[in-house]
Amino acid sequence: MDDVYQYPDEKEWMMASLIEQSEPQPGYWQSSETAAFARLDRDLEALLPSRDKVRALDAGCGRGRLLPWVARYSAAITASDADSRRLNIAVRDHTDIDGTTVAFEYSGIESLNDASYDLIVCSHVIQHVPMENVSPILRRLTDLASPESVMVLFFNRSAFGEERYGLSYLEDGGARVEEVDQARYQEVVTRRVKVDALPFRLIDPEVLVSEVSALGWSMEWQWTYHVDDESGDGIVDAERDEVINGTPSLLSRANGDIVTLWRRVPNA
Ligand SMILES: C[S@@+](CC[C@H](N)C(=O)[O-])C[C@H]1O[C@@H](n2cnc3c(N)ncnc32)[C@H](O)[C@@H]1O
Repeated sequence: MDDVYQYPDEKEWMMASLIEQSEPQPGYWQSSETAAFARLDRDLEALLPSRDKVRALDAGCGRGRLLPWVARYSAAITASDADSRRLNIAVRDHTDIDGTTVAFEYSGIESLNDASYDLIVCSHVIQHVPMENVSPILRRLTDLASPESVMVLFFNRSAFGEERYGLSYLEDGGARVEEVDQARYQEVVTRRVKVDALPFRLIDPEVLVSEVSALGWSMEWQWTYHVDDESGDGIVDAERDEVINGTPSLLSRANGDIVTLWRRVPNA
């Protein structure tokens, strides 16, 4: 397989610029992420055995941003990506993680080699793929799960029942987002038309959660974070995410990121 997929935001500039534009106050993005991971860590520590007993998969690892974090829970990681340039950066930067063996696999998730993983991490992949690829990705991740497996799935979320689609362009070192309809998203993400933009989709979390549940996973926990300013909650204090996650009416309207934590249902 050679470069079947090229993820266009090679240096993450677009992401940095989008963060700057969508923060309700400076520093929110980082503090929101830190708090989300602190909560996730509490649950993972309780669910997983010691790291020498955990085989982990970072599916769609990109440049390997999360590998040092995954290594806290696993001494044997497989890191995969469908973009060879990004995977090569992960290889360069994250081969030597103390006390950890990292194997790299250049592959789309749908065609990953057979294996059995106790921890599966899939972070911010499914919002950038053609819509018809999401189910095969989730099914393949399920096939690769050990009977006791734990899965952490991060994605961009929409308000309930209101999926959204967009194209992010990198212009003059900053990002411009164009909101588009589903047909245009599909056209760009499947590369039927060539546009120099990163297509993204805000996925309806209720729909995704019911699909993953139907595959034989039970949801342990979920947390919405990086809530964008447009969500209209008007909250600007440090407790913003706590308030949003604790208030069903705000949670149902939030656009942003979500982390969901799953456990394989026994005998599923
Ligand atoms: C937004 S990046 C996220 C990278 C990393 N997981 C993180 O959270 O930093 C999305 C990554 O998914 C990869 N990707 C997209 N479709 C994929 C697929 N079908 N199989 C594997 N990787 C894929 C892209 O190449 C890109 O590196």
